[in-house]
Amino acid sequence: MFLNGASVGFDTVRNKAVFIDQTLLPTEYKEVSTDDYNEIFDAIKNLKVRGAPQIGVFTAISLAVLMNNSTSDTYEKLMAELKDYCTKLVSCRPTAVNLKWSTEEMLKVAENSNAENFKENLTDKALKMIEDDVAICRKIGEYGAEILKNCNSVLTHCNAGRLATVKYGTALAPIYVAKENGNSIKVFADETRPLLQGARLTAFELCDANIDTTVICDNMASFVMKNALVDAVLVGCDRVALNGDTANKIGTSGVAILAKHYNIPFYVCMPFSTFDKNIKSGDDIVIEMREGSEIGEMWYEKTMIPQNAKTLNPAFDVTDHSLITAFITEKGVFTPDEIKKYI
Ligand code: MRU
Repeated sequence: MFLNGASVGFDTVRNKAVFIDQTLLPTEYKEVSTDDYNEIFDAIKNLKVRGAPQIGVFTAISLAVLMNNSTSDTYEKLMAELKDYCTKLVSCRPTAVNLKWSTEEMLKVAENSNAENFKENLTDKALKMIEDDVAICRKIGEYGAEILKNCNSVLTHCNAGRLATVKYGTALAPIYVAKENGNSIKVFADETRPLLQGARLTAFELCDANIDTTVICDNMASFVMKNALVDAVLVGCDRVALNGDTANKIGTSGVAILAKHYNIPFYVCMPFSTFDKNIKSGDDIVIEMREGSEIGEMWYEKTMIPQNAKTLNPAFDVTDHSLITAFITEKGVFTPDEIKKYI
């Protein structure tokens, strides 16, 4: 096993991008090592690698791996090849801004390189992004644990844990840090239809860390809140606009509306790489639309939807900033009004 507790990695000795095939969890844990463009594209597109920060870091590793294998012999050719890979990979998942951010970071490094140090500089940058992600998530965990000091139980949606980053996660990092500090917080995990990231992934990693975990169907969140079973909601994010509007996994905005109704604080855990300073509000966020088969067929032996029925499968929704109590970031905890001051 190469990863040793991390969720993605860069095997620089063999020049491979390494990931856990998350579509197989929770029944099978399989690490995949690759330097193949098609396998990399498929891994991102089909959520073998997923979660905004993880997609960003994995893309940087993949670009370094692909370029290390390049036979281009001039700076211009190397740059053209890198740009081509960036354009294709960015198209895989349009909502998660970390993907675009990561390609821009790698292109910046390439622009300041020459033919001789091009590959080495990209490798160094990808390794630095792995290191930074771990440190950033740890910080989010520390700030979040402080906020959760008096909480017994939280609700989360989708998976914003270690399986969505390199290590620790964003929304689950406070839970891990609180546990280290001797504060065991229980977690209610929404199953997160249609791809079940909450049931399959959040529950998998929390149980693996011996954290008290209860999986609920998405339509049970109101019951849990009404019966005072949770003290706070913690979620991750895929893109945050200047006004604090936040795109995250489909269903998040409904959870935020419920939390407001029951007067439960709703926190978004965000590395600044997920902040998109180029868009004013959530209206500018492109929502990834996915195949309807994920709703009616993916988890069933027989199709669950009559042939003539249509499906609609948006992968994300936008939570209005007015529903967000605060953002927990690597730079501190900020209200939606404050966030843009800290770019
Ligand atoms: O489609 P996914 O599984 O990549 O969606 C993931 C989420 O929505 C996460 O909540 C988000 O990326 C934050 S991960 C720290």
